[in-house]
Amino acid sequence: MEITIIQNLNLSYIRTFALRCAVDLDITGRIQAYGRPMPLNELARSIPIPREKESMLGRLMTLLVNQGIFAQSEAGYQLTPASQLILTEGSNMGANVRFTTYAQVIKIWSRLSEVFKESGEQTLLEKVFDGKKFWEFTKEKPEYGKLFDDAMASLSNALKRGLIASYPHIFDGLNNLVDVGGGTGTAVKFISEAFPKLRCTLFDLPHVIAKALKSESFDVVGGDMFEKIPPADAIFLKKVLHDWGDEDCVRILKKCKEAVLESSKNGGKVIVVDIVIDLENSDTKAVETSLLYDICMMNIHGSKERNKQEWHDIILGAGYSGYKIYPAQLGVNSVIELYP
Ligand SMILES: C[S@@+](CC[C@H](N)C(=O)[O-])C[C@H]1O[C@@H](n2cnc3c(N)ncnc32)[C@H](O)[C@@H]1O
Repeated sequence: MEITIIQNLNLSYIRTFALRCAVDLDITGRIQAYGRPMPLNELARSIPIPREKESMLGRLMTLLVNQGIFAQSEAGYQLTPASQLILTEGSNMGANVRFTTYAQVIKIWSRLSEVFKESGEQTLLEKVFDGKKFWEFTKEKPEYGKLFDDAMASLSNALKRGLIASYPHIFDGLNNLVDVGGGTGTAVKFISEAFPKLRCTLFDLPHVIAKALKSESFDVVGGDMFEKIPPADAIFLKKVLHDWGDEDCVRILKKCKEAVLESSKNGGKVIVVDIVIDLENSDTKAVETSLLYDICMMNIHGSKERNKQEWHDIILGAGYSGYKIYPAQLGVNSVIELYP
């Protein structure tokens, strides 16, 4: 019924905060540690919560079971593949939940309509935080910067098996690779460990590199991708271009092309991992998730998620001779190969 559509959408944020509550109470870790289906009273005791709150916890769990986060049998609660991703010793996607629900930033969404009423290019985030851009904000607020780095690392962890398993040939024939905007190095670490002959370099802003993982298996270089990118057969750009508008993406892609041509005169490529919006996709959850990310990008960075045509325009606009989009197999993310 129509009224249910409105009511459901209206209450959607409660799903978000129920998930956040599960992360804060470490419900996944407790169920995992229990080692078998965990009854409600055991879960309540392990947190621990006051006895009179046990039935409230049961109601929270009922919602989370309904959302596919946990499973429930007569014996108790169990993890599902979704909640396995939240486990700290797994992908740690709880870090992603904490970042997205960061109290100071989440308040921007209640002012969404304001951006449509004013002229100018200021994003919602800049408007609420006195003109500060996202990257200035993460630099000035180390606590938020750390949440962001951890959130990015958790997503990399969640995608790592899929990247190697779903696209096993994308790293074939390459001698070296630079992960541009690679954050603190989670992705470059698993790529270099999976392909020990591939010499990998992590490249990001100097203040991010200062917090990067230390490893013998890859080099680290601090710098600005708008100025100079270290030369390599392959440039890896995961979840970077969606942070930028079209003109900036063309500038970044031109710098990537220069770096590839400097290293590999006749071959080489740029490997992009990002969303390709496909409104025709029959997986409605995937379409919805892509559109939610698009609105996020619009209001946080003034950037966007792109459909096929928009990718085509920036790739050819940066002077590439061709490209190939692989089907999305990394959650909602696809791999796009760009050929100089
Ligand atoms: C959305 S994060 C993606 C991080 C990582 N690739 C991942 O997938 O987890 C974008 C990254 O771009 C980096 N970045 C932003 N501006 C940059 C610049 N001018 N030069 C190099 N890196 C930059 C940020 O510091 C951040 O680590």
